[in-house]
Amino acid sequence: MTSTSATPIEILPSILSADFTRLGSAIEEVVAAGARVIHCDVMDGQFVPPITFGAQMVANLRDRFGDTVDLDVHLMIDAPERQVSDFVKAGASGFTFHAEATPHAHRILQQLKEAGVRGGLAVCPGTPIGAIEECVDDLGLALCMTVNPGWGGQKLIPHTIAKTGRIAAAVKAGTIVQVDGGVDVHTAPLVAAQGAHWLVAGSAVFGAADPGAAFQAIEQAARDAAPVA
Ligand code: DX5
Ligand code: ZN
Repeated sequence: MTSTSATPIEILPSILSADFTRLGSAIEEVVAAGARVIHCDVMDGQFVPPITFGAQMVANLRDRFGDTVDLDVHLMIDAPERQVSDFVKAGASGFTFHAEATPHAHRILQQLKEAGVRGGLAVCPGTPIGAIEECVDDLGLALCMTVNPGWGGQKLIPHTIAKTGRIAAAVKAGTIVQVDGGVDVHTAPLVAAQGAHWLVAGSAVFGAADPGAAFQAIEQAARDAAPVA
């Protein structure tokens, strides 16, 4: 079965699971395998315990890769409204923040729209989808976390599969439905069948002996399972 959905299925390698000492070549490898969107996990040690990197990393990636990749920034930080301008300046293609991290979701989405940057709203596994439903007119992307945010290499939480379907039904046509966490060749078809368009995969890609081949296997599994529009 081939997807004819208006928004094509993409697998987004998450650099969280890459070796940061050779990040550029790790990204080149998955881009050569067909990756078009690179997922960048920003963590502040507050919203989630780990700390990763900030806007400077995104600026460096933009300099190195130019317009050949979409840089999809997933902010696991408190008060993301304080970071909008830095990440826009750094060249983020998309800025996804958590509904749990701010009372200002609608305002941030408006700011991003004005800046011409894709605005994404994420919900953790324990958070109802109401915040997404309230913002459907302004969303470029809706992210259903399929693990609790903060760490790569976790197992997908089963109830988030049906939740992905509820989010897909709630958003407007053209809004990207994203899932993040525990996506591999076995789970990708389950979320793709629910209407997920963009599937983030960290350890299943960069933890594999051949990241390019792993990327392609997950992509094929997801595309085969996507609903025909
Ligand atoms: C987790 C991050 C994910 C992470 C996914 O909080 O948001 O993007 O890289 O890693 P895997 O695919 O290994 O579950
Ligand atoms: Zn992420």
